[in-house]
Formats: sequence, structure tokens, C-alpha cells
Amino acid sequence: YTIQSTTVSESCPSNIALIKYWGKYENQIPANPSISYTLNHCKTNTTIEFLANEPFSVQTFLSGNEELKFAEKIEKYFKNIAQYLPWILKGKYIIKTENTFPHSSGIASSASGFGAIAKCLMKIDEFFSSKNSDEESLQKASFLARLGSGSACRSLHSGLVVWGESDEVEGSSDLFAVQYPNSEIHDVFKDFNDWVLLIHEGVKSVSSTVGHGLMNTNPYAERRFLEARENFVPMKETLKSGDMNAFIKLVEHEALTLHAMMMMSDPAFILMKTGTLEVINKIWDFRRQTELPLFFTLDAGANVHLLFPNDGSEDKIKTFIEKELLQHTQKNGVVKDVMKW
Ligand code: PMV
Repeated sequence: YTIQSTTVSESCPSNIALIKYWGKYENQIPANPSISYTLNHCKTNTTIEFLANEPFSVQTFLSGNEELKFAEKIEKYFKNIAQYLPWILKGKYIIKTENTFPHSSGIASSASGFGAIAKCLMKIDEFFSSKNSDEESLQKASFLARLGSGSACRSLHSGLVVWGESDEVEGSSDLFAVQYPNSEIHDVFKDFNDWVLLIHEGVKSVSSTVGHGLMNTNPYAERRFLEARENFVPMKETLKSGDMNAFIKLVEHEALTLHAMMMMSDPAFILMKTGTLEVINKIWDFRRQTELPLFFTLDAGANVHLLFPNDGSEDKIKTFIEKELLQHTQKNGVVKDVMKW
């Protein structure tokens, strides 16, 4: 094929894991399977200008500002995936990205960011070579996104998405993510809210790359990998039956286990802040008092993802969040998302 200059644009959402990926092997192979909700509103929009036949280089702009560190990361990433896209080192890239959610808010911008870049690369690839089927192209985009940031591979699909081989999910793979079958999901989980309370907007003290690495020497790691794998059994049952209490128990347990692993690392680290704990306790008090289905999950950071269904109880829950929980956030920050499909 002949290589030509071209400009492509793609958009990709972020995602939030319910069963967490934490710990990996060589070549971004996850130590356990994970499942996530793809967020509908938290997106990265990316435009790549590819200038063919120029010396390989990458220039990146985030919301109009040049980001040198990001360019370095992308250059390394492109070299890493050159074996799968033979043309990739034969040109210059000008990459412009913007997020629809606050930068450094702790919402996984690496997931949406690498997802959008992988989609752009597949578009350029199709411009040069024969077109793959949509399904093949999506699978390859997920495969490529995984090599940028593991959790990014789940952002290529909407709804509930699984990455990592699990006996419970047909077609699941360590190499790319697959959509969880719609027919296996109770309606109550297809219209869900995820409101992110922005507890702390600063840079994280420990990156997720370092965090994954510390699982290699964590004495509890093997037990944790097994538990995550086992958790797919009740997860599958719950998603099918719509048992909200079982779902809440499982999802909160996964979030706390992720952070417990951090505390049991050597060196230990803690990404939760005082506000994180205050909010968790308030959620538990609220649930005890009202029995309404408000619960939380956490990423590798201090912010709290508030999860609740649209089952008729949402107005009371929203009032509680706005009256009681917002005071624990920096600048009263909350990013509202609804996952509906
Ligand atoms: O994709 P990474 O390497 O940034 O890892 C993300 C890990 C968690 O967000 C903590 C969990 C997950 O499964 O998304």
C-alpha cells in the first residue's frame, strides 16, 4: 500500500471498573479478568494529523496547550505497537485531544485517551490497507488500546465490558475486551447513574503503572487474583437476576479490596483522602437509614464514584448527594454521568 498524509478524528469514552484490574504480567496481560461500565459523557475527542514520509515524531496538544510529556509517552507507545501497524513509524503526528471532563480530575483520561488514539490509528490503517470488518477493526482497536493503558481496551465497547479470560464470559480474552452479552443483563443495570465526586484534584502520589508493579511483591496478590476471578460467578448471577443488594456488596467489596492491596504493598501507599472516607461512611449511614440503593466504587484515586439506578429512588438519592456529600468535594465538584443503553 502507499502511505499518504491524512487527518482523522475519533471520540472515546472512559470507563469505571466493577471488578477491578490491578496487577499484570508482561505485555499488558491482566492478572485477572475485570468488568466495567462504559461512561457515556466522560469522553476524549482526538484529532490526528498524519504527515506521511516525514521523519517519525509526535507532537501532542491537550486542550490547545502543547504537552511534551504526553508526546514522549505516545512516541514510546507507537514504537511498541509498530509490529502490528507496519506504517506507523513512517511519518509525523500532530495529535490534538480534549476531554469533556475536568483534566486531572482522576477520571480515567488514559482509558478514553488511548481508546481514542487506537480508534484513530485503525482509521488511518484502513485508509492505506483493505478495510476490515467493523468487528475486526473494533477488536484490533481494543487490542491496541490495551497496549497503551490496560483499562483502555474496555472503552471501545459500550455498556458492560469484560477484559481478561474468564470461564464465566464466552469469548473473553486477555488480549482485548468484549461486550458483556445484553441478554444476560437485567434491565435495572442498563440505566444507571455514575456521579463522580471530585474529592481531590491534584496529581496522584503513585501512578497506576507503579501500583500494578507493586502487586508483583504483594504477599496477598495471588489470593486477590483468584478472588477477582471467583467474583465473576456472583457478578454473573446478579447481573442476570437484578439483585441490587448482592450487586452493591460485590462492587463495594471490589473497590475496598483494590485500596487494601495498595495498603498492603511494600512500600505501602494510600490514595484515599479524608474526604473519601467521610463520603463512604455517609453513604453507609444513608443506606442503613433509607435502604435506598446508593453505593460507591473507587478508581486508583481519591474520588468517589457514586452509583445508583434509575428505579424510582433516584430523586431522593440526588437530593442527598447534593445536600450531604457535595461539601466534601474540592470546589463542589461532581461530574454526572448516566449509562443507558
Ligand atoms: O489501565 P491502568 O493501567 O491505568 O489501570 C487501571 C486500574 C484501575 O482503574 C484501578 C482498575 C480498572 O480495572 O480500571
